[in-house]
Amino acid sequence: MAATGLFLIIFLLVHLTGNLQLLKDDGGEAFNVYAQFMTSNPLIKTTSYLLYATFLVHIIWAVILSVYNRKARPVGYAHNKASSTWSSRNMGILGTIVLIFLIIHLKNFWYEMHWGGIPTVAYEGESYKDLYAVVDKAFAEWWIVALYVVSMIGLMFHLYHGFQSAFQTLGLNHPKYNALIKGVGTAFAVIVPALFAAIPILMFLERS
Ligand code: HEM
Repeated sequence: MAATGLFLIIFLLVHLTGNLQLLKDDGGEAFNVYAQFMTSNPLIKTTSYLLYATFLVHIIWAVILSVYNRKARPVGYAHNKASSTWSSRNMGILGTIVLIFLIIHLKNFWYEMHWGGIPTVAYEGESYKDLYAVVDKAFAEWWIVALYVVSMIGLMFHLYHGFQSAFQTLGLNHPKYNALIKGVGTAFAVIVPALFAAIPILMFLERS
């Protein structure tokens, strides 16, 4: 869970950086050029397959672990709320919120980019799929924006526990650095989902 989680954390940073280009006031050019590069560069395409595998291992392993834990302790823990956080006790439900988001998200954008009939635009004589228009159309719907915002709150709590837990599981924690890991983990868990959520909110507001 920890190793795959850390890889997914890196993916989130890269994905966020690319998606922030949606906010540029250029009619989507920078974003469309970026998206086409990401889906055609052979090295990035190979990394994408690794990413899909990582997501699958992370999800399947989470299910196996929770079934195993339930079997090992059918009565359940008498949760000590003082020594565990709300996030750590609810990783299953938080992960499920992120998974439902991911299924809808991939259908709306990733599937459309690869197999949908997206119109094309030309920049400097070269043709590009207008993925920006697909995203812009989706974020014109208030309920899709609301779905993204709620999902990003789920992601925030999921990352809050996941980031620190990954370091602990991999034995990368040390009394000297624990406060730093907690600080960086908390900042990451709050800032990254907040920026992801800001994209649909700002694109929605820009239209109205
Ligand atoms: C406002 C927030 C987000 C926007 C606007 C956005 C946008 C997009 C778009 C346009 C694509 C299709 C591009 C392509 O196939 O190359 C995509 C793919 C994807 N997104 Fe997002 N995304 C957001 C948040 C997230 C989050 C929070 C996650 C994970 C929890 C995520 C996971 C993915 C994955 C796994 C793919 C497929 C990547 C690949 O094929 O390499 N996205 N996203």
